[in-house]
Amino acid sequence: MDVSQGRVRTVSIIGTGYLGTTHAACMAELGFEVVGLDSDPHKVAMLAAGRLPFVEPDLEPLLAEHVATGRLRFTTDPAEAAAADVHFLCVGTPQRSDGLGADLGAVRGSVAALAPHLSRPCLVVGKSTVPVGTAAELAETLREAAPAGPEVHLAWNPEFLREGHAVADTLRPDRLVFGLEGGPDAPGAARALTALREVYADALGAGVPEVLADLPTAELVKTAANSFLATKISFINAMAELCDAAGADVTVLAGALALDERIGGRFLAPGLGFGGGCLPKDIRAFVARAEEIGAGAALAFLREVDAVNLRCRTRAVDLVLDELARGSGRRVAVLGASFKPGSDDVRDSPGLDVAAALHRSGIDVRIHDPAAMPTARRVHPELTYADSVAAACADADVVLLTTEWPQFRDLDPGGLAAVVARPVVIDARHALPAGSWRAAGWRYLAPGRPEPVATPRAAAATTAA
Ligand code: UGA
Repeated sequence: MDVSQGRVRTVSIIGTGYLGTTHAACMAELGFEVVGLDSDPHKVAMLAAGRLPFVEPDLEPLLAEHVATGRLRFTTDPAEAAAADVHFLCVGTPQRSDGLGADLGAVRGSVAALAPHLSRPCLVVGKSTVPVGTAAELAETLREAAPAGPEVHLAWNPEFLREGHAVADTLRPDRLVFGLEGGPDAPGAARALTALREVYADALGAGVPEVLADLPTAELVKTAANSFLATKISFINAMAELCDAAGADVTVLAGALALDERIGGRFLAPGLGFGGGCLPKDIRAFVARAEEIGAGAALAFLREVDAVNLRCRTRAVDLVLDELARGSGRRVAVLGASFKPGSDDVRDSPGLDVAAALHRSGIDVRIHDPAAMPTARRVHPELTYADSVAAACADADVVLLTTEWPQFRDLDPGGLAAVVARPVVIDARHALPAGSWRAAGWRYLAPGRPEPVATPRAAAATTAA
């Protein structure tokens, strides 16, 4: 087929991680014939059986449904993906082991593997988060290595989905950014745009805004968006540090800031900071790339954003150690291993990091998480995991909440007080109703929030009692 004729029927998805698997299932849901390509045969076998190798609400039924109809299949063979009209590049770009930059091995490798099979006109669409300039390099690779050469076009269409909301974010994103080689007015851009508009006809028809850009701008939109979100989170966590020093309450401060519509309350929740497979490595890769292209000064502040974020973790460790120093016990229950609720992803998880640091300090740590125990065990087999909240909290001297799962928010503080050694809770995510916990006899602590000061009347009552 010729993508300029507006007849996209088959799409390939290169890389079937969170992004690729979600995109594959959603493309099948939209009616396209989809082939998912991955180099990991174990993952491919699982997906081909309609099973999801990770936790993501609403995704497994979609996957199973379209695998069953045959509209969605998975393979390890690039030749099987070659016939697609549009190829979505969804492989990971983790942090390099030897520095802050992104490891582009999978991106370059998958394009190099696919290119020799591209012998008919098609569109390759980059969705992976990459350092600016990568798309231009890949376009060159395709021109040189694809038999169809100039008939193979490259566009950049960054992905903004959040784990835990992946399906909804894919089908109805906030915006669709289409980066076109040479910009929207360049010769050849119209063909790529026709195919992109066809692929995303459903979302565009529902009013999702379209942003047309050149390749570098499209690449930058993604890293800039994640950097902005990370900056907002670190800003409020820096305010939490100030509040601790000044005896002020960061939750009240954040609530007041949020009422200014120019600021808004989203991504302004203080606590343990950001983790996961995206925000931390993306801001580091952005800094590294800015330095490479001579614009390091512009992003120097992101190093501070990173530092504030990592300090959230050391401050939580210190809070626990200070609290343990008030008594003689050394047992801590950690509630939460995933980097956020609704996911079993433990990549750069703040809570798991804190648990591991406490363990290294000789503390007896017991972790419970509703979804992430298997993934956490794989990364930190040396830690102790408990099958329930009660088992994690049995005889604990401190209960530390690190992930705001709904089932933790709704815990009964009265019941839990009966199983712990000392009723002390550190709410590192500001997720618990402090008043109810205090009323149930708990000492409630949270970063950036002062302990209640006894009023003269309350103090007198305490003395009399
Ligand atoms: C993030 C972005 O939000 C997505 O738009 C983007 O597509 C994705 O990265 C990506 O690059 O693939 P995600 O990593 O799923 O999505 O998670 P977020 O919901 O952004 O949360 C990131 C971290 O920030 C979590 O650890 C969360 O607990 C923390 N966070 C979030 C806060 O500490 N405070 C907040 O107010 C909000």
